[in-house]
Amino acid sequence: MADTPKTRVPADSERGHLAKAFADKTAKIGVIGLGYVGLPLIRTFVAAGYKTLGFDIDSTKVKRLLAGESYIEHISSQWIGNCVREGKFQPTADMSRLPEADAVLLCVPTPLNETRDPDLTYIENSTRWVAKYLRPGQLVVLESTTYPGTTRDVILPILQSSGLVLGKDFFLAYSPEREDPGNPDFPAAGIPKVVGGMDQASLDLAAKLYGQGVVEVIPVSSCEVAEACKIVENTYRAVNIAMVNELKMLFSRMGIDVWEVIDAAKTKPFGFQAFYPGPGLGGHCIPIDPFYLSWLARRAGLSTRFIELAGEINTAMPQYVIDRLTEALNEVGKPVKDSKVCVLGAAYKKDIDDPRESPAFTLITLLQQRGAEVSYSDPHIPRLPRMRQHNIPLESSPLTAEFLASQDCVLIATDHSTFDYDFIVEHAKLVVDTRNATAAVRHGREKIQKA
Ligand SMILES: NC(=O)c1ccc[n+]([C@@H]2O[C@H](COP(=O)([O-])OP(=O)(O)OC[C@H]3O[C@@H](n4cnc5c(N)ncnc54)[C@H](O)[C@@H]3O)[C@@H](O)[C@H]2O)c1
Repeated sequence: MADTPKTRVPADSERGHLAKAFADKTAKIGVIGLGYVGLPLIRTFVAAGYKTLGFDIDSTKVKRLLAGESYIEHISSQWIGNCVREGKFQPTADMSRLPEADAVLLCVPTPLNETRDPDLTYIENSTRWVAKYLRPGQLVVLESTTYPGTTRDVILPILQSSGLVLGKDFFLAYSPEREDPGNPDFPAAGIPKVVGGMDQASLDLAAKLYGQGVVEVIPVSSCEVAEACKIVENTYRAVNIAMVNELKMLFSRMGIDVWEVIDAAKTKPFGFQAFYPGPGLGGHCIPIDPFYLSWLARRAGLSTRFIELAGEINTAMPQYVIDRLTEALNEVGKPVKDSKVCVLGAAYKKDIDDPRESPAFTLITLLQQRGAEVSYSDPHIPRLPRMRQHNIPLESSPLTAEFLASQDCVLIATDHSTFDYDFIVEHAKLVVDTRNATAAVRHGREKIQKA
């Protein structure tokens, strides 16, 4: 590939050259944003036989990667070290190297701002870098989750400000990341990839590229369809989780175990998919993405009542859990104030080290506001990092028999597989379980309160 930016050559040769480079794997794949999505994507393309370039503005992350050190638990340091040494993965904070990449895949964050509206600054900033160094013969793909219209209305004008022409000089597509971090059954390469292009050439090129790395490519008619597809997937989860959370509260009043109900219902071989209640939504996707859609709807003068209601129910879950915990302590003659409570699990879901939007932080805060002496234990998160809305400087406590016995209550927020639930119930005085993690525990069930 020519490294000289903005040298014009005939369009067909750009397209043909890229398609050939994707097919024979001489193309270099650039990924912007080396986080929970970007790093597994690098791994996918390295496994497929491509050389990769990883860009991140966080120079600490780049230094750690260059030193062969992973900061994501399910990506091994050994793998990073080997790839960096063998030149299969070059991490860098130097955006002027963008022209080296034939495909540039954007995997930057898409959070909400303080008024809970989409915050596209990461997408805009990284696209400006791409535009600055855009050269003829590059494919740009947005992978970040966002509302329908972002690729066309936000990314395309920035790229066009380079003076290069879509479909002639550069190609633009959207393909949502469907990463399920920590799930060994679904590595990125095994998950079908939906792809929408800004034009036919962009779609064909993006489909060709992903087809080399993942099990199946699902081409759709536009970037908007691909963008909407991802939001629908996450909204579907948020709404269904809200439904089972509401049913949990109802059934609990009636003395019915919602987990047993769901396990029975899921034996139906069609028409039912199991979702499970919990202490509230967590992670970078499910609590956030549906609000990208409601923002878009508001802009069009429409409302998204399912999303709003689901948000309301899911957001109320930590308070419900604390109310149940308060009742359980009351039953044994203890007020929350001055009680010792250990929260088990700070990650937003089992077996990962990602604390983003984890309900554990809200649970700890609510308990502290009530005067409890709160600790936590999470083998994946040795100390609680500063979060957007929480700064709780706690270190993970080791779960010894003595420690468990010293607590007035143990609150299971995340059902990590590494927790020994028999041991926990044996030594704790009281266990409040928000995940049905203690389902298989036989002895000491009288100490367990589901919430
Ligand atoms: N984490 C998941 O499970 C998951 C799953 C599917 C989709 N997504 C979506 O993928 C996107 C990325 O999520 P993530 O979890 O990987 O985020 P992350 O925070 O783990 O990683 C994003 C990275 O982008 C870097 N970055 C930010 N601005 C940059 C810029 N201008 N230039 C270069 N690098 C920049 C950050 O330093 C960070 O390392 C989001 O839109 C998210 O909704 C995430």
